Amino acid sequence: MNVAIGCDHGGFPVKDIVISVLRDLGVAVDDHGCASADSVNYPDYARLVCQAVVDGKADRGILICGTGIGMSMAANRYPTIRAALCQDIFTARMSREHNDANVLCLGARVVGPGLMIEIVKEWILTDFAGGRHQTRIDMFSEIGAAR
Ligand code: RB5
Repeated sequence: MNVAIGCDHGGFPVKDIVISVLRDLGVAVDDHGCASADSVNYPDYARLVCQAVVDGKADRGILICGTGIGMSMAANRYPTIRAALCQDIFTARMSREHNDANVLCLGARVVGPGLMIEIVKEWILTDFAGGRHQTRIDMFSEIGAAR
């Protein structure tokens, strides 16, 4: 699996921890920044990661900001992106199993590093259940942009 990762200054302090977890799981990581704690605009990094997923250059994406909210709002503007803001392990599992989330959003000022590591592991290792859940995802195209 190949994962594109991006963060803003709020997520920068934990990005390397998340990258280490991914590599330990055997995941190839493409780091799209940011590269320091200097203030940046999270939509720029949401765009880089989501574009990689939309273009098929990454299987999935991970976006980290202070709360995860801005990143999830920005990411869900992109066609075919199903971004899930997860603050617990159950939601991380369900976002994969039921929603086939292809982008995980994390809030570095909300979730501590220990929990964040477990959320990332759960999200990476859980498969989509398909079936009735695929039917529901297919209905997204009735809402707006073709997904
Ligand atoms: C940056 O201060 C902060 O607004 C950002 O990281 C994020 O939390 C936005 O949703």
